[in-house]
This record gives sequence, C-alpha cells and structure tokens, in this order.
Amino acid sequence: MRDCNEKNITTAVLEAFQGTPEVRLKAIMSSLIRHLHDFVREVELTTDEWDRAIDYLSRTGQGCTAERQEFILLSDVLGVSMLVDAINHRMPGGATETTVLGPFYVQNPPELPHGYDVSRGLKGEPLFVEGFVLSATLTPIANAIVDIWQADSEGFYDVQRTELPGSTLRGRFRTDREGRFHFWSIMPTSYPVPQDGTAGELLRATARHPYRPAHLHFLIAAEEHETLVTHLFVDGDPYLNSDAVFGVKESLIRNFTKEEPGAAPDGRTMDRPWRKLTSTFRLKGAAKPSAAPRAA
Ligand code: BEZ
Ligand code: FE
Repeated sequence: MRDCNEKNITTAVLEAFQGTPEVRLKAIMSSLIRHLHDFVREVELTTDEWDRAIDYLSRTGQGCTAERQEFILLSDVLGVSMLVDAINHRMPGGATETTVLGPFYVQNPPELPHGYDVSRGLKGEPLFVEGFVLSATLTPIANAIVDIWQADSEGFYDVQRTELPGSTLRGRFRTDREGRFHFWSIMPTSYPVPQDGTAGELLRATARHPYRPAHLHFLIAAEEHETLVTHLFVDGDPYLNSDAVFGVKESLIRNFTKEEPGAAPDGRTMDRPWRKLTSTFRLKGAAKPSAAPRAA
C-alpha cells in the first residue's frame, strides 16, 4: 500500500477494509468508498472545495441539538430521506403510501376525545377531519393510535411558537370499533423548512425555494400492523410539484371540500364556511417473524 495515486488508491482503500467482520458493514463501506472516490475523481475536487465541504459538514454537526437535527434536514432536501423511505416501505397494492416524519413530531402527544378542536382557538379556516383506519384487506382496525400534527395558518408548528401554552394543532386519537376517528382543526398552509442552518444555506446557494405544500401529518400505530407515517396534502397547493423535501405522492393528495354554514357531521352548527377532509388509511400487516429453525 505505497505509492497511492489517483488510479490505484481505491483498490488500496478497499483492501484495507477487507477484514471487516460484519458482512453488511463490509458491503456498505466497500460501496461507499467506490462511489465516493468516483465522485471525487469525476468532479476533480479541488483542495479549496474539499476545505469548504469539511467546513460545511462541521457546521452541520454543530447545528444539531436535542431539538434540532440539521443532518436529517440536509438528508431531506437532498431527497435521501424519501429515497430511504421508498426503499423501506414498498407497499402492497391498497396500503396507504408513506412519506417523511419531519422534525416537528413530538412523541406521546396528549390523547384527546373524538371531536376535539386541536386548534384551541387559533385563527384559521375551520377544518373537520374524519378518518377510517383499515387493514390492507379492508378490515376496520379498532383501537389504533392516531397521532396528528400540522402547521397553523401562518405556517408554524406549536414547537416553533414558544408563546403557546402547550400542544396545539397536534394530538392523539384512538379509533373506535369501526376504525374511525374525527376532530376539528384549521386549514394548514404551505410553509418553508427551517432555513437558518446549513440546509437553508444549500437551498439558497442552489437557488431552490424552501417550501413544503400544505399538509396534515399522521402517524398511525396498530397491533400486528406496520406503523404508518404519512401526510395528506391539500389539492391545489402551488408547491405540490416542487416540495423542498420531495415528499408528495399523488395518492396522498386530497380535496379538502368547501362546506357551507350549517350542520357539520358531528352535529356542530357552523356559522361560517368550513372545510372537510375525509380519508381512509390502509395499514400494511406486520411481517410475521420467520419460524424458528427446527433442530435437525
Ligand atoms: C415537515 O413536514 O414537517 C417537514 C419535513 C421535512 C423537513 C422539514 C419539515
Ligand atoms: Fe409538516
């Protein structure tokens, strides 16, 4: 392993990793080295660019805290998060498609009664949401846990608004015997992903906009099913074709219908126009643990 040059160094580095005991780690490192070296050769990376890359990645790491994960945001805007999601959630026909979790999920939100208004008085266009949770074979799933969260009418999540008392526009519902849940909220808007870190720097340097189309987030967990992490997007949003994190799927776009003042499905009387979102969610069955090998 002497006299390494731009032609032979890849072979030398691959050989240095040959003794890696874990088979998967060895495969991943070998592929990473080949692709990374080919990339450096292809663009003929200059020393100045290498310096800038090291500085950029260092600042990305320094931008991470318990509340802020700049590396995940970078992975999101590079489309890597959605690529990993696509590879790991190849859905059977009929199952609801997945999309990114995003940085604004809070674990164990408060469990709320059906019909609760998660806007807690925030201004916005009223929205009634009703969902049906089914298995991929159309059997209703009772007792599924449905976590929901969304941005407000100005594009902010509650965790970005320190003046709010607590959980707003987020909560947990449990499906009834027919697999149903419903709640009140307000219409979400499109909003920019956080731009005050290195991911925002990259978007600006490459003349990309930072917006995500308006959506509601859902995380649905039920026994014997794969947990579903998804969004429902508002049809007609101007950013549906250019989501900054590449999360839009045609099957997740919904018509949030415009409704006239009058009686809402839960008996509430509305004195102004409101919107309604109705959607089914079809969960994929959990992979069965493979049978234990029988003794010979
Ligand atoms: C979100 O939808 O909350 C989100 C997803 C990825 C990056 C930033 C925000
Ligand atoms: Fe979001």
